[in-house]
Amino acid sequence: MAPRQLTVRESGAGRAVAALPGLVNPDKLRHLGPVSDVALRGVPAGSPPMASAAPAARLTLSPMATDFTEETAADAVIESFAKTPDPRLHELLNGLVRHLHAFIRETEPTIAEWERAVEFLTATGQKCDDERQEFILLSDVLGISMLVETINNRTGGATESTVLGPFHVLKSPRRELGDTIDLVGTGTPCVVRGRVLSADGAPLPGAELDVWQANDQGFYDVQQPDVQPRANGRGLFTAAADGSFWFRTIVPSYYPIPADGPVGALLNATKRHPYRPAHIHFIVTAPGHRALTTHIFVAGSPYIESDAVFAVKKSLIKEFTPVDDPEQAARYGLTGPFSLADFDIVLEPAQS
Ligand code: BEZ
Ligand code: FE
Repeated sequence: MAPRQLTVRESGAGRAVAALPGLVNPDKLRHLGPVSDVALRGVPAGSPPMASAAPAARLTLSPMATDFTEETAADAVIESFAKTPDPRLHELLNGLVRHLHAFIRETEPTIAEWERAVEFLTATGQKCDDERQEFILLSDVLGISMLVETINNRTGGATESTVLGPFHVLKSPRRELGDTIDLVGTGTPCVVRGRVLSADGAPLPGAELDVWQANDQGFYDVQQPDVQPRANGRGLFTAAADGSFWFRTIVPSYYPIPADGPVGALLNATKRHPYRPAHIHFIVTAPGHRALTTHIFVAGSPYIESDAVFAVKKSLIKEFTPVDDPEQAARYGLTGPFSLADFDIVLEPAQS
């Protein structure tokens, strides 16, 4: 948006009056002295004199040079960014200022409320360290993470994406198809199987699946380094020649997001619970295709309709069907009842 300029004309009496009444209230300018006293903006030093120094001289002032009003505030700040060389940064800052100012005009916070908001954001920053990112958690519980994720992964038929979350680790152990990622042996055994396909249905042999989940108590290995073996609930698998994959695990539990910081206090103050429904995370990659970050959700899990981070999409809810058939169990290297979940994954070809 082009910066709006405030054109001021010298009146016969040598006083400035606004020529853009929609932008600035002329009454607000009455305190200004003769034009020669008014700071001129946007006029480089050494510029030739303005068209005429005669009584009808047209001088250009930005709202920044005038007094700050509720009406002109947003324009004044937007104009201050007018010389931003990066057009995208310029666009983002303009939108941010417009929306933040509209929010403030609409809600009219008291000074005490504004100070409380600043305290909250300060505490959110102070809670961040190498392990904990409270700002991302704030973005999660406000639905912003999911909105950004969804906008950036508009798919025509590919598997839907969802949030990455804070418990991914960069190097999951490589495992063979059919291996278990459960290194403990408690919980309900479970088999997850499916195929990785391209959008046209062609299998994607060699696709990589990075998989991680909480245990049956709702904790990730990294949350309990002294309790769970390292890399419990994690594995990196490679799809077979026909794009198929399968692995064994246990049915994960629902769990709370970290709620001992400012974000937890916000949930508390708003009577929101901190829980996420039971799910298994996936990052799936294949040459020539867009990487997919997603989960499968356990159908019927508590909180499936009220995920604290708004990450559930219907297409990602899967039945974990109980199977009590020794023959089928033996096929998967199991000896007793288990749950079976099917998940076919469709990747979108990368834009060339
Ligand atoms: C997770 O699923 O691991 C997660 C996602 C967002 C916030 C907290 C946890
Ligand atoms: Fe998770």
